Amino acid sequence: MPRPITPARPVNPRGGTSTQRQRRGTLGGKSESSHRWRFFTEYLAEPTTVGAISPSSPGLARALCTHFSRRTGPANVLEVGAGTGPVTRHIGSLLGPEDRLDVCEIQAKLADFLESSVLTTEHLAPAFADGRVRLLRAPVQEIDRENHYDFVIAGLPFTAFALRDIKDVFKVIRRCLKPGGVMSYFEYVALRRISSQVVLGSKRRRKRIVSAYMSRHIKNHQFDRQTVFQNVPPAYARHLRFD
Ligand SMILES: C[S@@+](CC[C@H](N)C(=O)[O-])C[C@H]1O[C@@H](n2cnc3c(N)ncnc32)[C@H](O)[C@@H]1O
Repeated sequence: MPRPITPARPVNPRGGTSTQRQRRGTLGGKSESSHRWRFFTEYLAEPTTVGAISPSSPGLARALCTHFSRRTGPANVLEVGAGTGPVTRHIGSLLGPEDRLDVCEIQAKLADFLESSVLTTEHLAPAFADGRVRLLRAPVQEIDRENHYDFVIAGLPFTAFALRDIKDVFKVIRRCLKPGGVMSYFEYVALRRISSQVVLGSKRRRKRIVSAYMSRHIKNHQFDRQTVFQNVPPAYARHLRFD
């Protein structure tokens, strides 16, 4: 049985009162190294949710947006797992006046950071102010749209997820994509193979089951892939269609 899905809650553009922001521990600061440090501290706090020790490089962000950048008309885009926003910024730089973007992030502190330091930047601020860009502070599993998005660009750490969660996420993404829509996501080169060799027992079994599930999706639905060596670690940007 699929889990019940409730609507994702768009955020108040001002992000609540200053006391609420303080309680949630708003992340400030804008330099590249501070982004990395914030990302790393969130990884330490929730390693299986964040699933990476460092944000994606500009090269990986570009690769993930390959098909969005080639669109021929206005598009609805969903970014899932935006973190500190390297991919969000790149999507923002490509956003046209009739495009719409929903940015989904489960972690409150990272969502605060996106709101204060990414959605306020040059390319995104006007569209965030007029509601064409929205921040969804919720797990992607709660998005209840159907046939709505032309592109879903995901930064989720699938290999750290339980199989049931991966299945739920794919089900939601397939439901909310329009026919012919494209899902793009990344995974680190060889990570699945290496991680299923270095763990033992039931963990190894779990990793192998997850890897087989991901491989099946790739075999059945991937139509394009880039290898990005200018990323730490090197990564594949994968592009899938489900129909
Ligand atoms: C590997 S990080 C990627 C961050 C960013 N996109 C990048 O490329 O640097 C994964 C992000 O997904 C978020 N995340 C994990 N599970 C999620 C879920 N179920 N729904 C929405 N976001 C999720 C994490 O909080 C984290 O910010």
